[in-house]
Amino acid sequence: SLVTVVIGTRPELIKMAPVIKAIRETDSMELRFVHTGQHYDTELSGSFIRTLGLPEPDVRLGVGSGSQAEQTGEALVALEADVEATSPDVVLAQGDTNAVLSAALAVSKLDADFGHVEAGIRSFDDEMPEEVNRVVADRVADFLFAPTMEAAQNLTEEGITENVHVTGNTVVDACREHSKVAHEQSDVLDRLDLTPGEYVAATVHRARNTDDDDRLRTVLTALDDVSFPVVLPAHPRTQAAVDRIGFDASGSLALIDPLDYLDFLELLSSARVVVTDSGGVQEEASILEVPCLTVRPNTERPETVDAGVNELVTPETVGDRLRAVYRDERDEMVGATDLFGDGRAGERIVELLRTAGEDDRDAARR
Ligand code: UD1
Ligand code: UDP
Repeated sequence: SLVTVVIGTRPELIKMAPVIKAIRETDSMELRFVHTGQHYDTELSGSFIRTLGLPEPDVRLGVGSGSQAEQTGEALVALEADVEATSPDVVLAQGDTNAVLSAALAVSKLDADFGHVEAGIRSFDDEMPEEVNRVVADRVADFLFAPTMEAAQNLTEEGITENVHVTGNTVVDACREHSKVAHEQSDVLDRLDLTPGEYVAATVHRARNTDDDDRLRTVLTALDDVSFPVVLPAHPRTQAAVDRIGFDASGSLALIDPLDYLDFLELLSSARVVVTDSGGVQEEASILEVPCLTVRPNTERPETVDAGVNELVTPETVGDRLRAVYRDERDEMVGATDLFGDGRAGERIVELLRTAGEDDRDAARR
């Protein structure tokens, strides 16, 4: 059978890599790899394709940056044409980006099945474009691969009960496989002159934090005003916002370019605390046993908060909470490393697709 994997951004490359690997190892499946081009800079795309050992995409749709509608619409039209021309049995997309929304909408009106990887997670915050994308993708999906029981429960509460499989999150597969290699190969700590356990890793890129000048300035000022180093590899969106507000990091904060996956995993795993608004980083922090402060009013990864390894903070509270966790509370905030599965989610998803395909063929024969 032909399986098309659609990705648009950095986290989708990371989290789909285990699925792509499992498809390539399955004799009865052929892979078509489609990159919408939502992320296009080498530091958000090409470097991940290399590091993760992914094949070059069969096609790049060249969607690029733009408004929500531009990104979604361009990819929608291009994906419809690609699916019509290539007739895959299944199209898979991961997560909550505009690329996922486009794939879900395009495929749901065509012959192929749509499989949603990381189905069912919810922030219940409709102001996030990602929440809209998740809800719509799950509503039209033919296969729903939920990372956790909580995610499956969210689907049940929306009346979605068929073809829901709890598989674990593929982030565990990727993080486990690559953090070992990262530790052996990455020289990021030397390059940045950091001592393991004596600095903070940070990422900020959510629209809510970067589009609001005051909010961004408050967060960055808090990170720049502590007595230990804070390293923040800045997403291009964040770098543009930093330039726009004219913020000059002159204290504890170092704003650097985005890191490739190995360097980032090494930076994260040796950090004393992580401050983030990223979804994937909240998950990886729990896997790598790094206490996490999340600068958001809510999270679609509530398991981490319930387990006590992640805490929601505001731009106003992040500075004080960071000082307290860094100095005194660190040890209380580690220890739940298995919230997102056992590292075999990719294999499991592909096996479920393979057996579903066999069942269909058996039914057709009868
Ligand atoms: C997108 C996703 C978000 C995800 C994030 C992962 C949506 C709605 N948002 O947000 O859920 O967490 O990716 O990183 O799909 N830019 C570049 N180079 C690039 C790509 C983007 O400079 O290669 C800049 C452009 O100025 C662009 C801005 O970043 O306008 C935002 O990019 P976009 O893809 O729209 O959203 P992200 O913030 O990356
Ligand atoms: N990441 C990376 N380099 C960086 C920052 C993040 O490799 O400089 C990885 C990180 O390990 C995680 C993923 O990117 O796996 C998260 O992506 P992002 O924060 O952009 O998106 P989100 O997960 O919030 O959708």
